[in-house]
Amino acid sequence: MAVAMTSVLFVCLGNICRSPLAEGALRQVAARLGLDLVIDSAGTAGWHAGKAPDPRAQAVALRNGCDIAGLRARALLPEDFRRFAHIYVMDRDNLADVRAMMPASAAAAPALLLDLVPGREGHEVADPWYGEAADFERTWAEVTAAAEALARRLQGHP
Ligand code: 4NP
Repeated sequence: MAVAMTSVLFVCLGNICRSPLAEGALRQVAARLGLDLVIDSAGTAGWHAGKAPDPRAQAVALRNGCDIAGLRARALLPEDFRRFAHIYVMDRDNLADVRAMMPASAAAAPALLLDLVPGREGHEVADPWYGEAADFERTWAEVTAAAEALARRLQGHP
């Protein structure tokens, strides 16, 4: 019997700050829990395609034991809607952009990432691009809380 693998795609605008951090956070949690997941991230804009994550994002991840230096940005593709069972976006602009690309046959309905975190439903992961190290620390804390909640959910816990 084929091994059922759950697939998760994180989407932000540039795919160099928030969604690579979310990807790294879920990879870290999944490795710790022994969860077999397909995890990727993409941007609604392709401006930074091929680039490594922003150095400030790499730095905050590394401070938390997570190496995301090998990730490369890419734009969201139409086939992502078939390939991924779960699509989580960072803010309402992402949600509108992703919905505008979504085919009727999409496997996943995109949702805000912080909808996963009790008490943070409906909140956005703010764009840290124009911010400072402290903003990236907050992003890391938010995506980590969401990754922990998602991993528990995918393990079958409430
Ligand atoms: P991200 O942050 O969407 O979290 O990757 C941004 C990265 C780049 C830009 C905006 C947001 N930009 O304008 O180039």
